[in-house]
Amino acid sequence: MTTEQTAAAVQTDREYILQTYVKPSFVIERGEGVYLFDTEGRRYLDFVSGIAVNALGYGDAEVTATIAEQAAKLIHVSNLYLTAPAGELARMLVESHPAFHRVFFANSGAEAVEGAIKFARRYARDRVGEGKTAIIAFDGSFHGRTMGALAVTAREKYREPFEPLMPGVRFAAFNDAASLEATMGPDVCAVILEPVQGEGGLRVADPAFLRAARALCDQYGALLIFDEIQCGMGRTGTLWAHEPAGVYPDIMTIAKPLAGGLPIGAVLMSQAVADTIHVGDHGTTFGGNPLVTAVASVVLRRVSDPAFLARVREVSSYLDEALHDLAAERADTIIELRGRGLMRGLRLTGSASAAREAAQERGLLVATAGEDVLRLLPPLIIEPRHVDDSIAVLRRVLK
Ligand SMILES: Cc1ncc(COP(=O)(O)O)c(C=O)c1O
Repeated sequence: MTTEQTAAAVQTDREYILQTYVKPSFVIERGEGVYLFDTEGRRYLDFVSGIAVNALGYGDAEVTATIAEQAAKLIHVSNLYLTAPAGELARMLVESHPAFHRVFFANSGAEAVEGAIKFARRYARDRVGEGKTAIIAFDGSFHGRTMGALAVTAREKYREPFEPLMPGVRFAAFNDAASLEATMGPDVCAVILEPVQGEGGLRVADPAFLRAARALCDQYGALLIFDEIQCGMGRTGTLWAHEPAGVYPDIMTIAKPLAGGLPIGAVLMSQAVADTIHVGDHGTTFGGNPLVTAVASVVLRRVSDPAFLARVREVSSYLDEALHDLAAERADTIIELRGRGLMRGLRLTGSASAAREAAQERGLLVATAGEDVLRLLPPLIIEPRHVDDSIAVLRRVLK
């Protein structure tokens, strides 16, 4: 693209796209591995990966070949008909976790959360009867922008302009079992939480807190829902982020990285939950279409390979050490390191978005989480040299 064409593309976006995001004024044209390139030929080391989506980076040969092959065969027929790729992906997901027996496919994270909420309500009505409809979520939570998902999302700024939201949601303090216990009651049908909070600032749930949540859900006959939309699929070094805690939920929502950048969401559930959902209770036109699920099977197979996960853990330790060294050097600007694996947060004394822009100027893309947390979400295929390059930029930016 010429400079004039780039300027025109920026202008067209500003003029015709609903401006719900603040975007920089370069235009991204292509990606290769862990790098993005803009129309002026500038290269960016990408520590955002499409907000934790591009686990295998850009231009992965197997992903692109699968897209081409499946697209040539069949893209979509709707859930009125059966196609093989959806069933195959569901089987792989179920076999990846001892607690799940059934999968519902949707098209985004928010839609997976909506499904989880509906299934929890349906289960409670079926098993207990009317009135068991309350849902408990936590401070710092982010579950999406649709009305149900927004109702279990804590941030006032996201909620307030759209109230009234879905009623029946109560909030407890994250990582605080006593607060959850005080908020629990016989009217609660589900507790929803992120094992590692994303948007809310990269806070990691303590194993003891997850165990307490499981015990309280069992005591009150409520379902435990884990939202692994951002933290799942290998990002923290295990396939599912809650694995090390040894606590199993009844329902899990996943999305972002599952289909290599194609839109997907999924709700995984126990047989007990599945038994209460019947034909016609829920639906979607696109969910589980053969193109998306064929690609997702490839991504899931690759990411769940023990050797792949071992490499994620290795590079995560390397990143962890480098971040600790940086935080020690820049104790005046970095207050705290958060997160786990390749999902890390740097809580800063200053503005995270100013730091993000300064890093961008130097060819490193990073995200933010709230006002003061810089968020690193690199592709899972990064190598130590990419970590070194990112730290070199952050060292210059965080002075
Ligand atoms: C934990 C979590 N849940 C749900 C969502 C919503 O996903 P989507 O943006 O695909 O609707 C997100 C998105 O950032 C997320 O991080």
